[in-house]
Amino acid sequence: MAVIRSVIRGVGAYLPKRIMTNDDFSRIVDTTDAWITERTGIKQRHIAAEDELTSDLGIAAAKQALVRSGIDPGDIDLIICATATPDRTFPATAVRIQAGLGITNGAAFDVQAVCSGFVYAMTTADNFLKTGLFKRAIVVGAETFSRILDWSDRGTCVLFGDGAGAVVLEAQPQKGTRDDRGVLSARIRSDGRYEDLLYVDGGPGSTKTTGHLRMNGREVFRHAIQKISGVIEETLVETGYAAEEIDLYVPHQANQRILDGIAKRLGVNPNKIMSTLAKHGNTSAASIPLALNQAFEEHRLKEGNLVLMEAMGGGFTWGAVLARW
Ligand code: ACO
Repeated sequence: MAVIRSVIRGVGAYLPKRIMTNDDFSRIVDTTDAWITERTGIKQRHIAAEDELTSDLGIAAAKQALVRSGIDPGDIDLIICATATPDRTFPATAVRIQAGLGITNGAAFDVQAVCSGFVYAMTTADNFLKTGLFKRAIVVGAETFSRILDWSDRGTCVLFGDGAGAVVLEAQPQKGTRDDRGVLSARIRSDGRYEDLLYVDGGPGSTKTTGHLRMNGREVFRHAIQKISGVIEETLVETGYAAEEIDLYVPHQANQRILDGIAKRLGVNPNKIMSTLAKHGNTSAASIPLALNQAFEEHRLKEGNLVLMEAMGGGFTWGAVLARW
């Protein structure tokens, strides 16, 4: 039976110019390049300039994705931005991105699921496209996490970076089989009991401040492998694919040890798991589209490839999207 699928037509990314290395951090907090590399796989991260906002990063990424998609900006009718670091409390960063792209059609709004934000935004866009309400969407993950870090807390400030990535999705009729192009499965989950393990200690409605990121890293780590492996396994069962049939895993980038742990648990070759941790650090909602963009530029994503994106973040929130490129 013919169905509508959300086909990925283009991908793009943007990273701020300024790079901070692990050695730069050793001059700010009591840490070493050896500790950060061994525990996380991170070597450097990009930091936004003072006058560079989350929307600026998102606009640059979306522009590249649009050019590569060959779709006219005027034909875009949905923009979803996943971010936990919006320019302002309101309006939504997505609306500022819409204006920056010169788009006046359709609707634009933000999705807030921290590091799972891109998976949440893709799932939302996919469902809107499948119902026929919108035809062409830009899904952006954009973050300036440097703005919510406690720069005196060595347990968190070394982990995160800034950046943005975007994809352009188009609703296309497909056969309705698992060989179709586009999103084949999208699932999201959350469990608010774990808020205290990963949160920001401020907000307009509580402290009237922005606040700083707080994390119990060891506990988050423990949950991450379990929850991510679980949602990947559910996706594979739903679509009938075996773990090794996936051409490329594009996970949220939190820690190389989490990526290695998932590879081991699923029994897949670690070469099939995209890692950008060394260069980008953890860019929260931006990490998956940034990694997708890198995979595309390295010619690791070809038409017909199966790509599985997954993430876990504050909330806890988690989820996975399986798509055929
Ligand atoms: N440099 C040197 N030592 C450090 C540093 C640092 N940058 N940070 C912490 N330490 C110390 C700690 O103080 C502790 O010292 P102690 O034993 O004297 O108390 C020791 O190292 C071990 O600390 P742990 O926190 O237990 O270290 P762990 O091996 O768990 O690594 C890390 C910490 C990297 C944060 C890891 O737990 C992790 O990656 N967790 C998962 C994070 C994650 O998945 N985030 C995803 C979601 S993010 C989001 O949603 C916004």
